[in-house]
Amino acid sequence: MQRILVTGGAGFIGSNFVHYVVEHTDLLVTVVDKLTYAGNRANLDGLPESRVRLVVGDIADADLMDDLVASHDAVIHYAAESHNDNSLRDPRPFLDTNIIGTYVILEACRKHDVRLHHISTDEVYGDLELDDPARFTESTPYNPSSPYSSTKAGSDLLVRAWVRSFGLRATISNCSNNYGPRQHIEKFIPRQITNVLDGRRPKLYGAGLNVRDWIHADDHSSAVIAILENGALGETYLIGADGEKNNLDVVRLILRLLDQPEDAFDHVTDRAGHDLRYAIDATKLRSEIGWRPAYADFSSGIADTITWYRENSDWWRPFKQRVENDYRRQSQ
Ligand code: NAD
Ligand code: TYD
Repeated sequence: MQRILVTGGAGFIGSNFVHYVVEHTDLLVTVVDKLTYAGNRANLDGLPESRVRLVVGDIADADLMDDLVASHDAVIHYAAESHNDNSLRDPRPFLDTNIIGTYVILEACRKHDVRLHHISTDEVYGDLELDDPARFTESTPYNPSSPYSSTKAGSDLLVRAWVRSFGLRATISNCSNNYGPRQHIEKFIPRQITNVLDGRRPKLYGAGLNVRDWIHADDHSSAVIAILENGALGETYLIGADGEKNNLDVVRLILRLLDQPEDAFDHVTDRAGHDLRYAIDATKLRSEIGWRPAYADFSSGIADTITWYRENSDWWRPFKQRVENDYRRQSQ
């Protein structure tokens, strides 16, 4: 494998993957990205032109995707509408990109017999009770809650159908919540960090007892490379790093690391249909592929992430007021 096509490579996780690939492999990368509100050319700054090329375009554009897929050895499909709160306000773009966009990629990969790795989320499994000892595994039934997670679930099922019906050479991964540099400030962790850096108080939905299973974006990238190299075609792998934390504890940690009182946050209106808890059992990935996460300590990973947002205020400040205005309209 020499040339890979990374969809959504100008977004948060996709761009971290491209940086990771340039540093750790010899692969040549084409990014195809529509540069929606969540995509940013600057996320690819500093990467060598000889290794990384950006094509601005829509994954739902069948002619464009047919051309691009034909000239690559594999497609790593990150592009998506990715934010639950947006999917509650306006679901349509989630269907267009997550369902139709994935369908277009599947057809192009089928036509040109190109390997596909489909990036998905643990949210396709719905949620767990707070006191349930169970975690999600590859055999947990799909039970998505939101327009976002249901369109991701739909895209996973399309990939499985193309594997079974057409022999598509594909793998799927479902990862838990990512944190790290270049995450859009609409998301929980960067919203709270930039709130404090901007003199605002963090905003916690409801009581803040909902649990997310946090993983550093670089650990997600190393797992995807491991699956590309050693995953079995047709298989699904869950990616997680045993990082369960409730939102209240994460906000307190951010406040502590930024030298603020631990109670200097506001409770705001809860998300409709808010999933209680996500938790990943990554035994299959660890035992069959031998993958291990590199970021063991959540607190130091968050401290590094805070440093990135502190040093890159030019990246986020232009969007801050708009994002907060949108949340305020929902009393969030
Ligand atoms: P993001 O919103 O930061 O980035 C998405 C990127 O896709 C943006 O650059 C955007 O411009 C691009 N894009 C959107 N629609 C497009 C289209 N129609 N054509 C081409 N490009 C388009 O999202 P993210 O958080 O980096 O998530 C990336 C992927 O990882 C998604 O598939 C998401 O479901 C999955 N995922 C995310 C998380 C998480 O914690 N954020 C966890 C597990 C899985
Ligand atoms: P988010 O980053 O939107 O990811 P996801 O919905 O995919 O898990 O939210 C993470 C958690 O943080 C989720 O339980 C909702 C909560 N949250 C807040 O408490 N306050 C906020 O301002 C945001 C954006 C999210």
